[in-house]
Amino acid sequence: MSEPMTFALLGCGSIAPTHARALAALPSEARLTHCCDIDPDRMKRLAEQFGLQPATWGEVLGNASIEAVTLCTPSGMHAAQAIEALEAGKHVILEKPMDVTVEACDRLLAAAAASDRRVGVISQHRFDPASVVARGVLDRGELGPLIAVDVRVPWYRTQQYYDSGDWRGTWEMDGGGCLMNQGIHTVDLMLWLAGPVERVYARARTAAHRGIEVEDLVCATIEFENGAIGSLTASTAMYPGFPARLGLHGVKGSLIIEGDALHTLAIEGKATVTGKVATAHARQVASGGTRAATEEVDKAAVAPAEEWAWGDAHRTQLDDFIRACREGRAPAIGGPEGRAAVAFIGACYRSAREDRPVGLA
Ligand SMILES: NC(=O)c1ccc[n+]([C@@H]2O[C@H](COP(=O)([O-])OP(=O)(O)OC[C@H]3O[C@@H](n4cnc5c(N)ncnc54)[C@H](O)[C@@H]3O)[C@@H](O)[C@H]2O)c1
Repeated sequence: MSEPMTFALLGCGSIAPTHARALAALPSEARLTHCCDIDPDRMKRLAEQFGLQPATWGEVLGNASIEAVTLCTPSGMHAAQAIEALEAGKHVILEKPMDVTVEACDRLLAAAAASDRRVGVISQHRFDPASVVARGVLDRGELGPLIAVDVRVPWYRTQQYYDSGDWRGTWEMDGGGCLMNQGIHTVDLMLWLAGPVERVYARARTAAHRGIEVEDLVCATIEFENGAIGSLTASTAMYPGFPARLGLHGVKGSLIIEGDALHTLAIEGKATVTGKVATAHARQVASGGTRAATEEVDKAAVAPAEEWAWGDAHRTQLDDFIRACREGRAPAIGGPEGRAAVAFIGACYRSAREDRPVGLA
């Protein structure tokens, strides 16, 4: 068995403790040793909380004992910092979005192609039990051909949230508003489960917040390459905020994920599972505890399984990333997947600006 992979973390803000905890929960696979931030107080706080060594970015890049970096910095910095890390011989996993423009994502893809190191993009909800079940149901064709996709991210963020960091709500560093920062999770699931997308026609507004450059409300009509059509609503202005929802509707059935859990799995001629039963069912299937989803739908009575908590999906994705680095394979979510979400969101923004449907060729 190989030694744990040594990590440094860049950007000691709100998502950083999730990474530090996730790596600490993988003691045989990973060892987080250093953290770095331009804000010395934040760096010190994270270092003390997790027993890390504070370091400058230059020290991290020059330290040959650090094999990988995890980037938790503002979104518009991701590609440039990842390229520096690759050039210093590090594997890189970075928070969503991969960066804020397709051009920046392409620069990182080119740097990754020229390197023998790996790039992963955090989009942790692909690892949620409900998402794993959905992927299996679709792979087995159990919903039949998809006809409709329903994407809703009716969230709420306070004015103080946008005022809490200079970079929030700016085109340069946030890259967009409710779609680029928040909706991207459900967009990524949509692309993974129902994509690719052919065309999108979107409307976007800054509907409720002050002093931000970007949208807090987007509605879009989506045409998928498989012939399905979809509707998307994303917001950070829908007080008090509601769970995100992804509905996949085929000619033989429907699967709905809501609030990161399996809400409904209904297949023609079989029992329907909903609510808590569906969620427990998804956890069991994802943990390998049961057979194919639809065999179990017939029974519709499933014992409760382990809780799936915040941080579990980050841990599972980091574990996959480390294994990918060790095995020399692509991680489950790498540069191409990260770019696809940014490209879709960029097409929505362009469509809204130019008031016309935009293709994703
Ligand atoms: N996967 C998720 O569920 C999730 C959740 C929250 C945030 N995120 C992503 O994580 C990233 C960070 O978001 P956040 O909410 O933690 O932001 P934040 O503002 O709380 O933290 C960012 C940190 O980066 C530091 N920083 C800025 N420039 C730097 C530089 N040049 N070098 C080193 N450090 C620098 C800041 O001082 C700050 O401490 C964003 O890309 C965001 O989209 C992902």
